[in-house]
Amino acid sequence: MTPEHAHRLVCPKCRGPLRSIAFAEAEDGAVRDGVLLCDACRLRYPVVNRVPVMLLFRAAVHAQFDRKHAAALAAWPDHRAPDDEPLPGERTTQETFTEEWDLIEVDGDDLSFTYTQDELVSLNRDVWLKWLPRSTENISRALVVGCGAGKELAALGQLLPECEIYATDINLSVVRVGGALANQPRLHVTICSLFHLPFKKESFDLVYSQGVLHHNRSTREAFAAIAPFVRPRGYLFVWVYGLDDHLVKKGWAGLVARFNYHLEMVLRPLLSWAPKGVREAFFHVAGSLLHPLIKARIRNKAQWGMANTIHSLRDWLSPRYAHVHSYNEVLEWYERAAFDVMDVQAPGAYRDLFGKQLWGVGLTGQKRGSHPPRT
Ligand SMILES: C[S@@+](CC[C@H](N)C(=O)[O-])C[C@H]1O[C@@H](n2cnc3c(N)ncnc32)[C@H](O)[C@@H]1O
Ligand SMILES: [Zn+2]
Repeated sequence: MTPEHAHRLVCPKCRGPLRSIAFAEAEDGAVRDGVLLCDACRLRYPVVNRVPVMLLFRAAVHAQFDRKHAAALAAWPDHRAPDDEPLPGERTTQETFTEEWDLIEVDGDDLSFTYTQDELVSLNRDVWLKWLPRSTENISRALVVGCGAGKELAALGQLLPECEIYATDINLSVVRVGGALANQPRLHVTICSLFHLPFKKESFDLVYSQGVLHHNRSTREAFAAIAPFVRPRGYLFVWVYGLDDHLVKKGWAGLVARFNYHLEMVLRPLLSWAPKGVREAFFHVAGSLLHPLIKARIRNKAQWGMANTIHSLRDWLSPRYAHVHSYNEVLEWYERAAFDVMDVQAPGAYRDLFGKQLWGVGLTGQKRGSHPPRT
């Protein structure tokens, strides 16, 4: 955690200021291990492997941190670790996505889903953020909501080279990759829930959330939780699963897509509720059986390994929630949050790049209002 990063964070509980204390510093002077203290509500948040953990509920990482730093923590006996009940769905989202992202290396040449790093750049440049060259507003601070293990951050860093990027996710794999992500200049990664973002409202020029919101109990509420972080005239990009995606394909491919959809409706609740060991066993067996079949259909066959097969099966079948939405629904969320939708994703550009149909609902809105001086 760099000083710039600490400066931007507020207490997710009371929204008060935080004091940063380093237990161990990295070579560049950033906090590698330490705490952030809120003197107003007397909570302390651990910083582990450069990553502040701004959760309001306890996770495995807290117990490990408290054990490792018991002596140092004794200096602040009045501050305690947060211990709220997680919101419905937060714990399972954290568990299933930590298991999923633990399979992927952020600094290797692993694929992100089916995309190489270069393809992620093209996807964002030509399909999702194609409006960037005609944006009238300066984008110097961006918030990424739900960054996974961080693969998409390098692509965003390339497209927004002058921008400070604040990436967030609830999954704990982020702690593991925290050191590797520090290689990217102007990138600051935080573990938190999108329902309790530890930043000042209206403090970002761009909020970006790709493939995330629909994995919560209510996608609409998740959208409403992140929209206030965009400053007036700033941008909000969101991509969520589409309502009719499984109906779009025709013929034999359509039959397979609809069969898969119904299979998912049965397996997803079972797997997300199952104990971790059962999930492990299922994905190990399913991965081994399906790997040759899946690999045969992948564009980047050379890089596609068993970990990618298991990762994609987990992404498809293990999250408890995976809601699907229509364009009108998402347009209404933007409208009610006082945004004008100014761009829609580009299916043609996607087909030109990847030779196939683009799925989902991808929109960018610009927040109404005037731009106040920013601090
Ligand atoms: C399918 S992944 C997409 C990750 C990334 N955007 C990408 O495309 O590589 C969805 C991510 O959203 C995160 N997520 C879902 N709900 C969240 C919440 N309430 N708070 C923070 N992160 C959340 C998950 O942990 C997961 O890493
Ligand atoms: Zn506080």
